[in-house]
Amino acid sequence: MPLSKQELKEIETTLVKLLREEIGPIVKTHTGTNFSSYDDKANEVDLVTVVDKQVEAIIKKELNAKYPNFKFIGEESYVVGETKITADPTFIVDPIDGTTNFIHGYPYSCTSLGLAENGKPVVGAVYNPHLDQLFHGSKGNGAYLNEKKIDVKKRPLTLQKSVVGLEGGAERTEGPDGNFDKKMATYKNLLSDKGGYVHGFRSVGSAAMNMCYVAAGMLDSYWEGGCWAWDVCAGWCILEEAGGRMVGGNKDEWQIPVDRRCYFAIRGGCGEEEQTAYVKSFWSQVEG
Ligand code: IPD
Repeated sequence: MPLSKQELKEIETTLVKLLREEIGPIVKTHTGTNFSSYDDKANEVDLVTVVDKQVEAIIKKELNAKYPNFKFIGEESYVVGETKITADPTFIVDPIDGTTNFIHGYPYSCTSLGLAENGKPVVGAVYNPHLDQLFHGSKGNGAYLNEKKIDVKKRPLTLQKSVVGLEGGAERTEGPDGNFDKKMATYKNLLSDKGGYVHGFRSVGSAAMNMCYVAAGMLDSYWEGGCWAWDVCAGWCILEEAGGRMVGGNKDEWQIPVDRRCYFAIRGGCGEEEQTAYVKSFWSQVEG
């Protein structure tokens, strides 16, 4: 039996409480601290600090105690080749999303707590304690920013008039071996007066924040190739509950790892037809 709407709401409330009372203050206190050492993961721009690991351990302990039958996947403890998203209720967690921001004291790092069931995101809570922005939602129960329902007022959506979230990500290898050149060419296409000529693009440095900003209508879309399940699980649920859509790339294949994880989030507040037309014009600017 899948979790009921009420059970999902209770889990959402638990996650919100955990973030506001326990995790947020830790992240806020340690941001911009002079970390004498931090590890590089995949390469020199894929960073992790001791706080990422400590925060994940606290979250795991708390959630395991309260939901002993649920599985847990975390960015800092997943095991290559072993960790898999199954149909079981599974917390999918990024203890600090925007670790680079966290290290540099740029106030856009957050904790992203998602729950997936049957391989789909069903609960999400994302907290940026620096700006006190807590986005949350669960399947069938709507999406909220702090305690206010996210309400993207009816507003037309066109590529030209949009502000798009884009990220450099950690994949920076130039040349035919990577997607870096294609990604940069796409940014140029979107910005230029010969291409999409969008109002602008923003790079806040956190996938979860980007997705929540799309959910709240602050961004019109967010496109990134290279995210992991923990970057997007919570934001995905919040986005859909706010009337937004996730399309493209590996929409139905966010297993860990996949080769080309590509996420494209589009806001609500407009008709489905407009969303579809937006995807088409956006895609006409994407290289490769
Ligand atoms: C990263 C951030 C970044 C995005 C990367 C993510 P992390 O997560 O969300 O904005 O470009 O794709 O992996 O490493 O800070 O948790």
